[in-house]
Amino acid sequence: MEKKLDNFLKKAPRLEKLGENKYRDPSWDFTRADTKILSHGFHSYPAMMIPQVARKCIELWGKEAKYILDPFMGSGTVLVEAKIHDINSFGFDINPLAVLLAKVKTTPIDTKILKQEFERIVKRTEEKIQRFRKGELNVEIPNYYNIDYWFKPDISKQLALLKEEIWAIDDENVRDFFKVAFSETVRYVSNTRNSEYKLYRIPESRLNGWSPDVFHTFKDYAERNIRKMGDFYRIAKDKRAFAKPMPHNVIEPVEIENVDMILTSPPYGDSRTTVAYGQFSRLSLQWMDFDYELVRNIDRIALGGKSAKSLMHYVPSEKLNVVLEKIAEIDEKRAREVLSYFIDFYKASKIINGYLNEGGVVVFVVANRTVRGIQIPTDEIYVEIFESFGYRHEVTYLRAIPNKRMPHKVSPSNKKGETVSTMALENIVVLKKQ
Ligand SMILES: C[S@@+](CC[C@H](N)C(=O)[O-])C[C@H]1O[C@@H](n2cnc3c(N)ncnc32)[C@H](O)[C@@H]1O
Repeated sequence: MEKKLDNFLKKAPRLEKLGENKYRDPSWDFTRADTKILSHGFHSYPAMMIPQVARKCIELWGKEAKYILDPFMGSGTVLVEAKIHDINSFGFDINPLAVLLAKVKTTPIDTKILKQEFERIVKRTEEKIQRFRKGELNVEIPNYYNIDYWFKPDISKQLALLKEEIWAIDDENVRDFFKVAFSETVRYVSNTRNSEYKLYRIPESRLNGWSPDVFHTFKDYAERNIRKMGDFYRIAKDKRAFAKPMPHNVIEPVEIENVDMILTSPPYGDSRTTVAYGQFSRLSLQWMDFDYELVRNIDRIALGGKSAKSLMHYVPSEKLNVVLEKIAEIDEKRAREVLSYFIDFYKASKIINGYLNEGGVVVFVVANRTVRGIQIPTDEIYVEIFESFGYRHEVTYLRAIPNKRMPHKVSPSNKKGETVSTMALENIVVLKKQ
């Protein structure tokens, strides 16, 4: 892997013009950067923006901003970086796990308080687990949907004991901090394959040998997060700017201050065929008692969650029409699925346009996916949509994503036949409101 990456980077051009305002710029790759610094490393989340990209965007285009918005905030990378730069921020997400993560990652807490609470949790849970093992303590398994399928009974009982101790913490911020380590624990000790973001069960043949230690898993995550909070606290404790993560569907308008920068990585396609955020979060959210109706519907509420009925649409993008036609020739249903994502994205764009001050910038970090062998120029479709609102396209940088394992076939210029085998790529698209 390392070797492949080195070869790739040796061959990579320094700065290559790919088209009108579009460059392949390796200075955005951050090849060897630690992406888990500070509170960024508290919890995994699918398709996270790396902090170095968020930071560079803020420093290039958002330094003077009073407010920044990330309308698809996910685990809150942009909000953390805004906080560090002492800039107020708002974030939206329909996934309650994202809202919890963003809140905890942007709330500095003195680690003295965390260490005290941690000692109490460890002592009490250890005692309880010992009594449980000796048969002196009866523990009820909670009644979550499909719990026996995703957790061994003994694991569920240990999780229930641990949960009781965390939920008993008085201070809400401290309690939420430990909920994050609990959530990572739930995912790790479940019967899911840990290498997958979707819910895939460990095959029956290997399940017998799977007996993770709940308590030690939690201890490791909590200790790591306390260390990282220490680093974050030193930088963030004196910052006065607020970070406001909100449980909110971007397609509906909401009252917030107007912002000077929108910096975001939207989902790059519908959840069914790209990243299933809802599936990734389901087990943690059940264990944290979020409403199951909402939990199981996250992927359906997400952008492109419902397939379009026909290929008729009002999205102002010629490039979208061209690509839909090509896909429809092969597979009409897939073309409608792709369209449903862009219809929702267009609705969202009209709304987020309303939050941005004149002269403000929108920065999208997005990868161009391939459907039925046809690459969708999502970055260019975004540009056409925002140009239809009167925005000016400033620049697009193409960056490699070095920590993606598989080399992909891509066509940076989107010209037929010009595919190269390289790492996965993503675009940083910058538009200015005139
Ligand atoms: C690519 S992820 C963002 C990752 C984020 N930049 C990070 O660093 O963690 C996209 C996010 O958009 C959210 N999302 C999808 N549809 C949404 C909608 N209609 N309203 C708000 N958020 C939505 C998903 O739940 C997901 O968390």
